[in-house]
Amino acid sequence: MTQVIASNIPTFVRHPKLIAWVEQIAALTQPDRIEWVDGSEEENQRLLDLMVSTGMMTKLNEEKRPGSYLALSSPSDVARVEERTYICSETKEDAGSTNNWAAPAEMRETLNGLFAGSMRGRTMYVVPFSMGPLGSHIAHIGIELTDSPYVVVNMRIMARMGKEVYDVLGTDGEYVPCVHSVGAPLADGQEDVKWPCNDTKYIVHYPETREIWSFGSGYGGNALLGKKCLALRIASAMGRDQGWLAEHMLILGLTSPRGDKHYVAAAFPSACGKTNFAMLIPPAGFEGWKIETVGDDIAWLKPGADGRLYAINPEAGFFGVAPGTSEKTNPNCLATLYKNVIYTNVAQTADGDVWWEGLSKEAPANLTDWKGEAWTPEKGTPAAHPNSRFTVAASQCPSIDADWENPVGVPISAFIFGGRRADTVPLVTEAFDWVDGVYKAATMGSETTAAAVGQQGVVRRDPFAMLPFCGYNMGDYFQHWLNIGEKLQAATAASGEKMPKIFNVNWFRRDANGDFVWPGFGQNTRVLEWIIDRCEGRIHAEETPMGFVPAYEDLNWTGTNFSREEFDLVAAQDHDQWVTELESHEELFAKIGTHLPQVLRDRKAQLVAALHKAKQEASA
Ligand code: GTP
Ligand code: SPV
Ligand code: MN
Repeated sequence: MTQVIASNIPTFVRHPKLIAWVEQIAALTQPDRIEWVDGSEEENQRLLDLMVSTGMMTKLNEEKRPGSYLALSSPSDVARVEERTYICSETKEDAGSTNNWAAPAEMRETLNGLFAGSMRGRTMYVVPFSMGPLGSHIAHIGIELTDSPYVVVNMRIMARMGKEVYDVLGTDGEYVPCVHSVGAPLADGQEDVKWPCNDTKYIVHYPETREIWSFGSGYGGNALLGKKCLALRIASAMGRDQGWLAEHMLILGLTSPRGDKHYVAAAFPSACGKTNFAMLIPPAGFEGWKIETVGDDIAWLKPGADGRLYAINPEAGFFGVAPGTSEKTNPNCLATLYKNVIYTNVAQTADGDVWWEGLSKEAPANLTDWKGEAWTPEKGTPAAHPNSRFTVAASQCPSIDADWENPVGVPISAFIFGGRRADTVPLVTEAFDWVDGVYKAATMGSETTAAAVGQQGVVRRDPFAMLPFCGYNMGDYFQHWLNIGEKLQAATAASGEKMPKIFNVNWFRRDANGDFVWPGFGQNTRVLEWIIDRCEGRIHAEETPMGFVPAYEDLNWTGTNFSREEFDLVAAQDHDQWVTELESHEELFAKIGTHLPQVLRDRKAQLVAALHKAKQEASA
């Protein structure tokens, strides 16, 4: 085995330790072949053609969807598996109670057993990638060993992937080793299935040694290890140690007709609107306003010399939710999808086009659904899986920001946190200060979505939209945010720059019929304008026990007839609902336990007191 590997190492790999590691993993997993991926166009096409020949992918209509392909996964492998995701720090305490944990030595033994021979009959691809612009001081390099060609072609879009990475690594550069197997070895002559995977799944992170091992799934965040595993779980632990933040946030720039530009970073849980918000087009009445996209899912934020926080998007592509994406809701996104897209689990039309719920009002009469079965509107099941996705290069996005690859990053004026809540949480609230903002982000609740396997539509606490992605103790993570706030406070006081403000939003309030009241999407620009105006101290807000909120008059309603009554439905704060809400925070606090910063406990007591005082005053 070792001989075979040594003979095909390309000249662009000059890193003895890396080569030894590849040989070691190959000896364990026993692939038939090893391919050192170079990221070239030819290689990409060869892998796509290979997957078409094995049935893993279908080539779409070249006229309608140039260079684009559709993959249908196994019905058992359609989303992230949070129950099977582990943070294997040396101590359980470092992983914290919100993460699954196993002792590293024990987990290594389990994984060694599972990975032994797991790539038999397959090719092991060596995939070099950079999260962050190639060669920039803020980037981090990973090498993913995978037996999935689907992973290779997706990683090529989602990260800076290819042989140039080895130039940066040189002979001894640092990289995060990522080992991935779909866990479906093939016996001699055994025919492959279209989407190999394993019922046993493990998504494992070793934060101290910065390693990732993923077994059994070929899908999304379980398998594209640069994304949630490296750029969030491992990077958040790096950020804790080094004084920066790795966050589940989009980054966008808003330019007003006056020409001033502000960047904001926003954290919404999975499938709660980040991609849509990042690409939104200002509505009628907002002529002269411009919104530009820096990133749609992940932000790395570091304090700059001027005391402000600067954000970069470590990714190179979008792995976005298809359902709900339409010419009406997100035209920039549809325009991004004009070529070279990989679709996963959407439906296909008879003429080789794609379709998903929400793409058009009426579903086509005949489709092949995400399970590969004939589908008509009468079937009663979704044609596209609710977590079906597109993979596309960020550079194809018409609203991409001129600075999206600037290694310095973009300065952040405001943080926005938002969950999916049918009630309780109003359209927008400004935190009183940094600590209050950290409290609000830490206790954010959101209805669960199809982005993760499990029950959907139930409210759970999703602190900072990072519950599934924080690579260390959540209580320590809160403290890290508090520490960053203190540093920013001192640095901005010294430089005269503004401290970023923190806001909460909720696009998802429902009326008595269960319909969304707020029109959302492009209309969210109205909220964004108020947010920026608050940062600049030029617009009014009402003070409530839960924070500063706009009165109806404070939002710009040009170009819409959204009424005061409708606004009241999305802006109302119900006393009893908030009492229940604050009580439910206790459950999270109890779970986090001794690592919970005392200031957050104090903040809660203050909020409860303020709420009761307001009630008394109202009834007096
Ligand atoms: P991940 O990629 O899983 O992290 O999701 P995301 O946060 O990027 O969510 P995305 O923008 O893909 O939106 C998820 C779903 O929410 C889609 O079906 C959207 O159509 C819908 N959505 C997004 N923004 C809004 C909004 O403002 N209002 C309403 N009602 N729905 C929205
Ligand atoms: C999410 O679930 O937040 C995603 C998709 O962005 S995945 O890559 O599967 O994590
Ligand atoms: Mn996400």
